[in-house]
Amino acid sequence: MKILITGGGGFIGSVLLIGLHDKYEIISLDRDQGPRQTKLQALTKDKITFVNGDIRDEVLLDNLMQKGIDVVIHFAGGGGNNACMKDPALAVTSYVHGTHLLLKKSLKYNIKRFIFSSSQAAYSTFKAREMPLTEDMELMPDDLYGALKAVAEHEIRDSQLKFTTLRFANVYGYVQGFNEIRKGGAIENFIKAAYDGSDITIFGKGEQKIDYVNVNDVLHCIEIILNDLSAGSDIFNIGSGKLVSIMDIAKTAAEIGREVFGHQINIKTVPAPEGKIWPDRLISIDKANRLLKWKPLVSLSDGIKQIMTNAEAPEK
Ligand SMILES: NC(=O)c1ccc[n+]([C@@H]2O[C@H](COP(=O)([O-])OP(=O)(O)OC[C@H]3O[C@@H](n4cnc5c(N)ncnc54)[C@H](O)[C@@H]3O)[C@@H](O)[C@H]2O)c1
Repeated sequence: MKILITGGGGFIGSVLLIGLHDKYEIISLDRDQGPRQTKLQALTKDKITFVNGDIRDEVLLDNLMQKGIDVVIHFAGGGGNNACMKDPALAVTSYVHGTHLLLKKSLKYNIKRFIFSSSQAAYSTFKAREMPLTEDMELMPDDLYGALKAVAEHEIRDSQLKFTTLRFANVYGYVQGFNEIRKGGAIENFIKAAYDGSDITIFGKGEQKIDYVNVNDVLHCIEIILNDLSAGSDIFNIGSGKLVSIMDIAKTAAEIGREVFGHQINIKTVPAPEGKIWPDRLISIDKANRLLKWKPLVSLSDGIKQIMTNAEAPEK
């Protein structure tokens, strides 16, 4: 089976390349694989074709897809809402126009399935909603990122292609062989603090709850989808199935940090800046559990420990 993975140089994309390179013929398309490519090439034993290019380049897509692609795994993207707001033109053209072009070419070259990385942000970010959020609930995005994912989803649903759309919670984890602590959200910040032996800082009382799913569970989900290309088109929430408070994540990171790095790590609370605390948001994973027979296997503490035991000096 031949697979085109867009965003292969990114966080989740790299995990997919490493996890799938032995079983499938893969092309990784990314506009900025940069120095990661050399490492990924070695980790995947030169089995992957790396193409440095943009999903908005129609000629390039034709060249790649006319050679025969069975599945497109579309994970290219411009980051979450902060990144989208920094460069809205790039975000809109990548998430919407880029997805449009990939769909058009996927139809032209008869691909068998289009797998798309959507986000829980398509349901909403700032609005409190009934929980857990299920796939049949209306999408009510209230930031640019969520809106772009909702538009892309809409176009995929209206295409004539067979598709699987995955609405991810927050994805965290370790990319085998990279040993880096990524820049990111709460988990990454807490792990960096533990590494440095500095205080973990949390906003307010740390009562806000968040849904984190490990990147290896995302890989596992993609493997399940690839194993049954005959399944119908569908949309699935992919999360941990439970919420954990920021304070509990901080305590877990501090405890594992003490064990791994030998530092005493204190948790400091500071008043929350405006707009930094959002309503809790839990996505139901019952449908993925029922129809894909998928469930998350990596606990938050195991996931944090895995990052910490492999961590190297974080970027400052
Ligand atoms: N990480 C998460 O928590 C999370 C949660 C929900 C959804 N997602 C979605 O999953 C996908 C992958 O996320 P990630 O965390 O690996 O992101 P990432 O930023 O690490 O990787 C995305 C990659 O896409 C590439 N890219 C961006 N625009 C492109 C374009 N026009 N053409 C070619 N390549 C382009 C970037 O260079 C980057 O390497 C994204 O679409 C993201 O929106 C991620």
